[in-house]
Amino acid sequence: MKFGVCYYPEHWPEARWAEDARLMGELGLKIIRLAEFAWAKMEPEPGVYDWEWLDRAIALFAEAGMEIILGTPTCTPPAWLTRQHPEILRVDANGRSRNHGTRRHYCPNSPTYREFSRQIVTQMAQRYGLDERIVGWQIDNEFGGGKSARCYCDHCARAFRTWLQNRYKTVDALNEAWGTIFWSQTYTAWAQINPPGDDVNYKNPSHVLDFYRFSSDSYVSYQQEQIDLLRQLAPGRFVTHNFMGLYQDLDQFDLAQSLDFITWDNYPTGNPDRWRQILYPPGSDTRQNDPVYAYDVGEPIVQSMSHALMRGLKQRPFWIMEQQCGHINWGDVNPGIRPGTPRLWVWHAVAEGADHIVYFRWRATLLAQEQYHSGLLGHDGRPDIGFGDQQRLLGELDQLSQLSAAPLDAPVAILFSFDDLWALQLQPHRHDFHYLRHLYAYYHACLRLGIGVDLVPDTADLSQYKLVIAPTAHLADEALAQRLCDYASGGGTLLLGVRAGFKTPSNRVTDQPLPGAMRELAGVTVTSWQSLPLGQAVPFRSEIAGFAGEASYWVETLGVETAVSLARYELERPDRFAANLSGLEKPTALAENKVDQGRVLTLGFYPTPAQARALLQHLASQLNIPSLPDLPAGVLAYQRGDVRLLLNFTDALQTVTVGTTSHTLPPRDLLFYR
Ligand code: GAL
Ligand code: ZN
Repeated sequence: MKFGVCYYPEHWPEARWAEDARLMGELGLKIIRLAEFAWAKMEPEPGVYDWEWLDRAIALFAEAGMEIILGTPTCTPPAWLTRQHPEILRVDANGRSRNHGTRRHYCPNSPTYREFSRQIVTQMAQRYGLDERIVGWQIDNEFGGGKSARCYCDHCARAFRTWLQNRYKTVDALNEAWGTIFWSQTYTAWAQINPPGDDVNYKNPSHVLDFYRFSSDSYVSYQQEQIDLLRQLAPGRFVTHNFMGLYQDLDQFDLAQSLDFITWDNYPTGNPDRWRQILYPPGSDTRQNDPVYAYDVGEPIVQSMSHALMRGLKQRPFWIMEQQCGHINWGDVNPGIRPGTPRLWVWHAVAEGADHIVYFRWRATLLAQEQYHSGLLGHDGRPDIGFGDQQRLLGELDQLSQLSAAPLDAPVAILFSFDDLWALQLQPHRHDFHYLRHLYAYYHACLRLGIGVDLVPDTADLSQYKLVIAPTAHLADEALAQRLCDYASGGGTLLLGVRAGFKTPSNRVTDQPLPGAMRELAGVTVTSWQSLPLGQAVPFRSEIAGFAGEASYWVETLGVETAVSLARYELERPDRFAANLSGLEKPTALAENKVDQGRVLTLGFYPTPAQARALLQHLASQLNIPSLPDLPAGVLAYQRGDVRLLLNFTDALQTVTVGTTSHTLPPRDLLFYR
């Protein structure tokens, strides 16, 4: 495993570069990423290139023993380009164009922009593609960052129509798929169809879902042009992109597909601000909910979930391309970071599957938008917190390498689908039903039990997993039901959650009894479903240890067909679900259906963290999945092969019992052992 750093030679006097290289050597940094925003410096005027500064930087850092990653600079088109060709600018849903002065202001479907992108990538790759000092390429920077995933310009409108023609072939088929007979939306020609901008109130969810899919495909095809050029001009070098964890607006599985491996940008203290309100249980006081964590570590389970999704994109290890090493500048509070915390983040990332760690950034910038962001060096060029932590990590390189070389095989997978996420964003039914929040209930439960989880698409090979959880398999068809059935038939245990099979892939409701396409597999019929106001609940009971209490928030009653009932609702008033109950007194809350060698469980309500934990604890012990039910809150535990890692994200001493041994973990510290 190696460490590296993001560096911007164009931000510093050239006379300083050598000292920087020397200090990087002192820290054992072996990788350097350059140039991903430097278009204006590389091509100061159209067709006029200046490579000399980059040649000198490459020479100097390679001389210092570093491997070089070059970024293609297409995230930041220069002013001459945006002024000469304003039609390349991205247009928002209100019809306003972005402007020069930031980044990600381009439209991925603009033919002009695509041409200029191909040109700069070709020029760069012709110059450096065969250079042995350049080990790989990062394409662009954080596709979709700064809410830039969707563009509503005329190019996009045209490309959207072509995309729709490919998908539906005839306008009639589109009308049928989108249900346009509703409110006289019917189209009679492709040219009548526009992107769903903000000039429409109450947009058609099938229309919007297709536009989201189209927007995602637009970046996939934009990226592919660069991949093709690099494969041709820089053969044998890796090609990657830096992803953004739980980012939702592009289908990250699709974007990852033709890259060699993925990298992602890991900023633990930015994430809690962003994610608490989306991920924490409904109605909980999101700020008060996690007092166990030290103030400067972020939210480790959210961080784990991000790592797990990133690992799931290609179902293989990844790199951290930007690792936070001190405070950042874009969160709500941006707490100061104490020594020891960056070290914890690095160990955590490696435990979750990071092969290499590249820090962001070398030195805090004196310039422009990111002045308040830290680096390994402070503004004055002297070592900051992260510098000290990296010195410490250097002494732990052997152990880190052992950890990173150990097998990564989680016993549990959770299925993740951007289509489902988007469909539920568009029609959550209750404002606080969020696809990720529901998923997090199960994910969180596994992590608190010390059970490793992968987040994978439903097209992944599931046969290696003992347990597969599909929290909200919302858009379903026969093909999906068949894949899940194959998994269960082969001996797997599948757990389905609420709102399964409710819709078809085009985002219309199924005309089958629920759970629609999943009904035979689940062996149940959903006899009623409802969203409950906070404070309302339905008691339920079961034989499963610790799994009893009240179902709330979202409750579905199940009628068992071929399944057996493992938990039942205890209705306090017989009229509660009268409309759909047809005589059943105690409808099922949890069912289990045998499917050949395996089984399918269906949980009829949205579990609280404690309920999810009790259910997963039960399944883990049935399936011989090792778990640590007494893991203290704020501690994460990893087992990879015969190596173990315990991470304490709290400010208190923690005692962790594994098997018959008790380990004591100092605050914000870790224990690695075999
Ligand atoms: C990342 C981005 C970097 C830098 C960093 C600051 O999202 O890729 O260029 O802006 O955030 O935290
Ligand atoms: Zn556009």
